[in-house]
Amino acid sequence: MAEMQDKGKVGIIGSGLIGRSWAMLFAGAGYRVKIFDVVDTQVSSALKDIEDQLVRLEESKLLRGEGGSAGQFSLISGTDSLSEAATDAVYIQECVPENLELKIKVFKQLDELVNGQTILASSTSCILPSKFTEGLEHSSQCIVAHPINPPYYVPLVELVPAPWTSPDIIQRAKAIQTECGQKPVVFKREIEGFAINRLQYTLLNECLRLVEEDIMSVEDIDKVMAYGLGHRYAFLGVMETALLNAEGFPNYCDRYGETVVRVSNTYGPTPTWRADDKVIQEIQKQFESVNLGVKDLPARRVWRDRRLTALAKLKLELEAEDVE
Ligand SMILES: NC(=O)c1ccc[n+]([C@@H]2O[C@H](COP(=O)([O-])OP(=O)(O)OC[C@H]3O[C@@H](n4cnc5c(N)ncnc54)[C@H](O)[C@@H]3O)[C@@H](O)[C@H]2O)c1
Repeated sequence: MAEMQDKGKVGIIGSGLIGRSWAMLFAGAGYRVKIFDVVDTQVSSALKDIEDQLVRLEESKLLRGEGGSAGQFSLISGTDSLSEAATDAVYIQECVPENLELKIKVFKQLDELVNGQTILASSTSCILPSKFTEGLEHSSQCIVAHPINPPYYVPLVELVPAPWTSPDIIQRAKAIQTECGQKPVVFKREIEGFAINRLQYTLLNECLRLVEEDIMSVEDIDKVMAYGLGHRYAFLGVMETALLNAEGFPNYCDRYGETVVRVSNTYGPTPTWRADDKVIQEIQKQFESVNLGVKDLPARRVWRDRRLTALAKLKLELEAEDVE
């Protein structure tokens, strides 16, 4: 491999699904990556899986960053010592299971190992950073960096600070994520559900109500997104979509404001989301009737990831055209 500049060490804590993806992204940007897991065999299987994935990405011309698959893999190694992964790391990405007690424990351990510069990021999907970083010596260096699965093809990262996170850490985390080819968004303060899940749950609630009120089939509701809104949302946000549907935002309100309020006033209460609710059983029955029962899901995930890969490729090509 051509000599790469040593950018320093990134520690990955937890080598499951998300830890593996992060390792590949950081190595693609030229960081030395140390993977730690409490289960030794997880580290060895993660290394094997990462090597295979990098080779496959290279073959399909989707490998990001410099150095080729072999060069990038040579930057990644495993350890059974938390200290080896964390001491003097530029950046640490915690990827342990979603459990508050565990996050508190791991952040406490990391707090004792890091120096005053290390960025301490958590992959948590929905735990507020203040819940597991309060009172730590290095609390101002802690931040949530929430990825979307699979992070290699869905580049958004939600950067959510605790009330005590320093502005410098937010900016440095943003810079490193951008360097990795991700698209970070920065929260001004923490909020339940971050943004991805706040928006996602709004949609899920309304989908559930449309089935409950027997307005549409599950298949047709999903078509509304897959063949309607989703086409625009693959490239534009909700806000710009509205902007382009009128002559500016005030004009959107002149044209559609009353309708938005009238329709919004017809939404029902938040569903209870209990597994034995009649509507939940009905949704499952409808999925099974179109061959999307539990046993069919692994194959469908492969189908999904192929499409996400193709979309990621298309978006990269179009973005390159935008730059030209
Ligand atoms: N899977 C997703 O779709 C997804 C998406 C975004 C964010 N996340 C978040 O990422 C985090 C990890 O999720 P995942 O899906 O990769 O989980 P996972 O179960 O696949 O992997 C977790 C890994 O952490 C290891 N681990 C457990 N305790 C540990 C400890 N004390 N120290 C070090 N390693 C430890 C486990 O052995 C396992 O290898 C969670 O907070 C999750 O909410 C997951």
